[in-house]
Amino acid sequence: MITPSLDALRTALHLLGVSVWIGGQIVLAGIVPVLRTTAPDALGAVARAFAKLAWPMFLLIVLTGIWGYVDIDAPTKSSAYTITFGVKMLLVAVTAIASLVHAQGTSRAAKAIGGAASLVSALGAAWLGVLLAHPT
Ligand code: HEM
Repeated sequence: MITPSLDALRTALHLLGVSVWIGGQIVLAGIVPVLRTTAPDALGAVARAFAKLAWPMFLLIVLTGIWGYVDIDAPTKSSAYTITFGVKMLLVAVTAIASLVHAQGTSRAAKAIGGAASLVSALGAAWLGVLLAHPT
């Protein structure tokens, strides 16, 4: 067996947070249209229950992300790495802000655009995270 390292633990926790943040949004996108017709009264409670799980996971992502960034010795990295990291941070900000717009907004546009922007930007951040961890 490969001996687990602290690096591996950090990555596993980062990815646990990512799986709930992104996976939860995808699952909800599939469930909400069904709930809207079968149990519309439950929509608010389901959304609040998801938020109670998702935001602590987002905090876990940020904390393990900062831990990872401190560990990689940023000044020694290429400009391509730095740019990729910067764009990733931009997408992280977008997914958080878009989620807030989605949750707080009452119009259909705020719900639809906020939800879609949150998921797309989180997927983009995940892709750039993979590029950071597995550079060519
Ligand atoms: C929604 C937000 C985020 C998503 C979806 C995300 C996703 C990912 C993924 C999928 C990886 C690749 C792991 C691997 O293949 O080993 C990764 C790596 C990384 N992430 Fe994130 N991340 C997010 C937020 C953050 C934040 C806020 C930071 C820093 C403050 C950060 C810093 C890093 C770093 C430095 C790496 C590469 C080094 C490592 O493996 O630890 N991430 N991220």
